[in-house]
Amino acid sequence: MTPPQDRLGPVIRLAPAKLNLTLAVVGRRGDGFHELHSVMAPLALADRLSMAVGAGPRDTLHVVGPGGEPLDAAAYDSVPRAIAETRRAVGRRADAMPLAMRLEKRIPVAAGLAGGSSDAAAALLAALEAWDAELEPAERHEVAARVGSDVPFFLAGGIALVRGRGEHVTPLRAIVGEPPGVLILTPDTPSSTAGAFAGFDAGGPAAPSDPRSTRLTSEHLVAELAAGLQAVDLANRAGVLAAANDLIAAAEAQVPGLRALRLALRRLLGVPIGLSGSGPTLWALYPSADEALIAERRVVTAIEDRSIVVPGSGAPFVTATTIEGGSRR
Ligand code: C5P
Repeated sequence: MTPPQDRLGPVIRLAPAKLNLTLAVVGRRGDGFHELHSVMAPLALADRLSMAVGAGPRDTLHVVGPGGEPLDAAAYDSVPRAIAETRRAVGRRADAMPLAMRLEKRIPVAAGLAGGSSDAAAALLAALEAWDAELEPAERHEVAARVGSDVPFFLAGGIALVRGRGEHVTPLRAIVGEPPGVLILTPDTPSSTAGAFAGFDAGGPAAPSDPRSTRLTSEHLVAELAAGLQAVDLANRAGVLAAANDLIAAAEAQVPGLRALRLALRRLLGVPIGLSGSGPTLWALYPSADEALIAERRVVTAIEDRSIVVPGSGAPFVTATTIEGGSRR
């Protein structure tokens, strides 16, 4: 077998973003985390991670933006954290093989799209391949869970029900037929996952009106996916799904202008608008990629002519993408 350092090309992995189709907070744990019941779907929107066993004395990570512009690697610590945990699990032979890594970021950061968690899962899998090392699935899963709550989801590689803090991942049947289109709008505003959960705990106006309804919607979606859902069926359920995120009120309380933006988008596009995770990313579902693309153009025009106002200091991220229904592996 070729020694890893003599391989010709680097190992390359895509790290998809995720969308929460539902997000029910069903309990609070002793460790400060929350028990979730969430249907999560990977998107075609993805970062790209490449790595090879390097010649230097230690790991290196170069991060570039969508246009190839260099970004500060210190802001993307989920990759080195995943490598450190994976190296610890693999043992001494990985110590002797430093990695040269390059991450191309497409997914907005701290957006509710779990880009950092996906980068971490991609780093774990790519490092094993680069080192020619094996970890049992259960051990991979434990390594992933140590890096972050959303990381185990990305090891499974398809639509899944995520429970517990994120560590219980049950793969679900892929969307049948054409992939659903998704419009994504991420305002350039800071948002904190921990802050959204704290807001949820504090209750008040941020508390959901019926604590059980989101979970029921989430359970219902799981059953419907198992029976077989097409993109058009998912888009038809967008109204129910858009309301099925227990963090909406807390996320909107954290980001001034986010609620107004959600309502303005709803008026502009005439479809329900949901929030992914703890935000601030907003989504709209479509029966096809083409329809999402038309929506993207309408939103870009509306932002340009200021008929909708997007909070944040910089330009928002707007893109049309699709739900990646099938398993990647
Ligand atoms: O695990 P991760 O770093 O993604 O979590 C960020 C923060 O979000 C945690 O510190 C916690 O406050 C909150 N969180 C939670 N329950 C979860 C996931 C995250 O309370 N299931």
